[in-house]
Amino acid sequence: MVDLLLGLQWGDEGKGKIVDVLTKNYDIIARFQGGPNAGHTLIFDGNKHVLHTIPSGIFHDKALNIVGNGVVIDPVIFQKELEDLEKYNIDFKSKLFISRKAHIILPTHRLLDAASETAKGKAKIGSTLKGIGPTYMDKTGRNGIRIGDLELENWKDKYDALTKKHLKMLDFFEVDIQFDLKELENQFCKAVDILKQLTFIDSEAYLFNAMQADKTILAEGAQGSLLDIDFGTYPYVTSSNTTAAGACTGLGVAPSKIGKVFGIFKAYTTRVGSGPFPTELFDEDGKTMAKVGQEFGATTGRPRRCGWLDLVALKYTVQVNGVTQLNMMKGDVLSGFDTIKICTSYQYKGKEITHLPYNIEPENVSVNYTEFKGWQADLTKMDSADQLPKNLITYIDFIEKELQVPIKIVSVGPDRKQTIFR
Ligand code: GDP
Ligand code: IMO
Ligand code: MG
Repeated sequence: MVDLLLGLQWGDEGKGKIVDVLTKNYDIIARFQGGPNAGHTLIFDGNKHVLHTIPSGIFHDKALNIVGNGVVIDPVIFQKELEDLEKYNIDFKSKLFISRKAHIILPTHRLLDAASETAKGKAKIGSTLKGIGPTYMDKTGRNGIRIGDLELENWKDKYDALTKKHLKMLDFFEVDIQFDLKELENQFCKAVDILKQLTFIDSEAYLFNAMQADKTILAEGAQGSLLDIDFGTYPYVTSSNTTAAGACTGLGVAPSKIGKVFGIFKAYTTRVGSGPFPTELFDEDGKTMAKVGQEFGATTGRPRRCGWLDLVALKYTVQVNGVTQLNMMKGDVLSGFDTIKICTSYQYKGKEITHLPYNIEPENVSVNYTEFKGWQADLTKMDSADQLPKNLITYIDFIEKELQVPIKIVSVGPDRKQTIFR
């Protein structure tokens, strides 16, 4: 069986931390979608690491890490990630396998991302500018270049043809994007040579055989369910299926082989980039969350927008993913608030509703809150569930009851050790 771990909000829920915590229980950790738009932070033994493409099981001796076919890979960023891990002496050849069917982000994909965003002006998605959208467009448009192509004699011809096409497309946008293609290509080709030293596999066959041999597998999601291309706040989403179904297509695992589904959420909500966010705060409370939670993007450094927990949206993503257990992150950030709020319904077209409607822009939706008494205690040194303050337990019990799924992990700080099991 394959267990899944995915974000239930707009990303940055703390997936990297929890994958790292859970890796000791698994033989294989496999990323199934997204690419270097992701930034997964791991903190342990006084070290902090942000992983973009490499799965979050990489620091464990035994676990094998797989980058699945659903992922898009930028060789230049990948090379940098490998370099950042140099001091750990990890044997990448035997610990990090890449699917031949994963698509490659070309330098011109990044340029197209930038051109598209510039051309959109105020309506921009707020993309991470990593070339994610254009690469997935080439994938579904059947023009993409895949990792397996790098093993062919003529991959450079394919590269040249696609790059030529991209340069024409850039003209179409009629925006001023400055670049030095020669320099970008130099970097790219060097990085491809490094990438080619790793082990390429047919990951669907590999995982099938691993399951036959009773290996335990955890699939690591990127982004969050509200950024899913189908179920997220379209068009302000990413270009892949971030929800549970994405693990089947992104790894080649049959739906009948999915086991547990771990859903990760923050005790409040954040979003980076554009798009609707019904519980967003523009007051001191929002600023406090941003400050205490250090809410800056792990990939782009942009400030994250902050707001109260949105149970209407969370209920929706729990359903879409078939979540079997919840992990609540960053509860420690809410310590010190007198009152804590949870959005329990929306006002939509004059009516109170508890489901996520098609349109959640501010002109269509306003929020209704249920209020809770806050707690003052510092949670960051706590290490067992019986130490948690009463008011936090009331908060947790309420969420569990509403979502009808148990909260099994309460994270009380960014470090691997600041994790409470219930
Ligand atoms: P991911 O993309 O889902 O892996 O999450 P990110 O790494 O982008 O963002 C989560 C941020 O919160 C990182 O800076 C983590 O170190 C931090 N973090 C994770 N869990 C906790 C927690 O329980 N409390 C606090 N204060 N920080 C946390
Ligand atoms: P992790 O895995 C938070 C957001 C961007 C933008 C939108 C589209 O760290 O949780 P893209 O570059 O994918 O075309 O951007 O999606 N976004 C993320 N937000 N966490 C992420 O990943 C994200 N990856 C993309 O900010 O709004
Ligand atoms: Mg992140």
